[in-house]
Amino acid sequence: GVGIYQGTDGFLYCDALKVDDIRAQVAASIFYLYSWQQIRQNYLAYASALEGLDYIIGYAVKANNNFKIMQLLQELGSGAVLVSGNELRLAMMAGFDPTRTIFNGNGKLPAELELAVEHGVLINVDSEFDLANIQAAAAKVGKTARVLIRINPDVDPQVHPYVSTGLAGSKFGIRNTHLQWFLDQIKADPNLELVGAHCHLGSTITKVNIFRDATLLMVDFIKQIRDQGFDLKFLNIGGGLGIDYARKGDVLPTPKDLIDTVRDLVSSLGLTLIIEPGRSMVANSCAFVSTVTGVKTNGNKNFVVVDGSMAELIRPSLYDAYQHIELTAPHDTEVQKFDVVGPVCESADFLGKDRLLHTPKAGDGLVVMDAGAYCMSMASNYNMKLAPAEYWVEQGSQLRQIRRAVTLDDHMKCVAATSGLRASTC
Ligand code: LLP
Repeated sequence: GVGIYQGTDGFLYCDALKVDDIRAQVAASIFYLYSWQQIRQNYLAYASALEGLDYIIGYAVKANNNFKIMQLLQELGSGAVLVSGNELRLAMMAGFDPTRTIFNGNGKLPAELELAVEHGVLINVDSEFDLANIQAAAAKVGKTARVLIRINPDVDPQVHPYVSTGLAGSKFGIRNTHLQWFLDQIKADPNLELVGAHCHLGSTITKVNIFRDATLLMVDFIKQIRDQGFDLKFLNIGGGLGIDYARKGDVLPTPKDLIDTVRDLVSSLGLTLIIEPGRSMVANSCAFVSTVTGVKTNGNKNFVVVDGSMAELIRPSLYDAYQHIELTAPHDTEVQKFDVVGPVCESADFLGKDRLLHTPKAGDGLVVMDAGAYCMSMASNYNMKLAPAEYWVEQGSQLRQIRRAVTLDDHMKCVAATSGLRASTC
């Protein structure tokens, strides 16, 4: 098997390796575990779906900025989608060609824009002030800024409101009623080159006709913009493809399904297609592994308390997101309904609610599946929890640490440095 899966023996595996064997080997009670093969397969699924088109796959680095994972995707041919100057710096460090990266955001800062213009990054224009800041950056750096207009197409992605971005009332992008003003400004500025149009509808999308609806609208905009003499090359349809978090065997659209719904539109206009996948590139490649501290009952509620928490994995707390939970080994104990919770000092600290699980005991392994996207990258130091290590199984069977855990010593040094203490204090 490839990725994280339950073997016929009831044990959990990452590629060829048993998760329990890995737990014993790494001697860490909490860690992220990835399948290198799965990430590679996810990338190649996009690349082969796009065959025959001109394209840039812009991996959305915010989903997971582990350096080794970024390097792997870069080596496979990926570009990158960035939302901060620091992400741009990290992407360049990982070897990404900045001219194949896209800088998104509704609040890009002048210094970040200067860095982006300096390196030839494709920049999405998000608002009037954003355009003014891009113009100022281009003038200051003395280079042409290559820009795309981010259009807010007002298409409902039918997802949780926190991950919906392309509706009329969203903070992102430009409403098309106002498009002409932007075109006039850009035309009048010799430091700007308008090279494309962008939209992004939201995240966790499970219906590809939504992408087609948006692309049809975008095609109209592109025609309008070209009619005014702009040489538009790129159509960027954003990211957002969902994955099978439920793990009930539902058939979800693949990258090929997504690309096939827009292929005719893109090729008839002779455009280069940019897509910006984050979640569908990395989420299913990973399990967040933690260890059971104990089991308790309060009233009619049963709890499995583990040492992992909302500090390492906040999606359930923040979005009420469902991520599948499994014990790492088979049990013959009673099956009960449990809330799986962490040690963090608030009731929002849960990894899963009302899960049917065999009753575990202290020391047992428990994993949260599909933890490769927006989990480690959203981890915090709440309750002074420290970032766990990350491992991957390379080439199907080689366990390798790809980021070590932050130690108390690392953290205290940072406390000392940022609090103006002498290092000897800690
Ligand atoms: N492009 C743009 C402009 C975006 O805003 C995003 C995600 C992506 C691409 C990548 O979308 P993806 O393919 O990963 O769905 N923290 C939330 C997700 C936030 C998504 C933000 N934007 C979560 O954990 O579900």
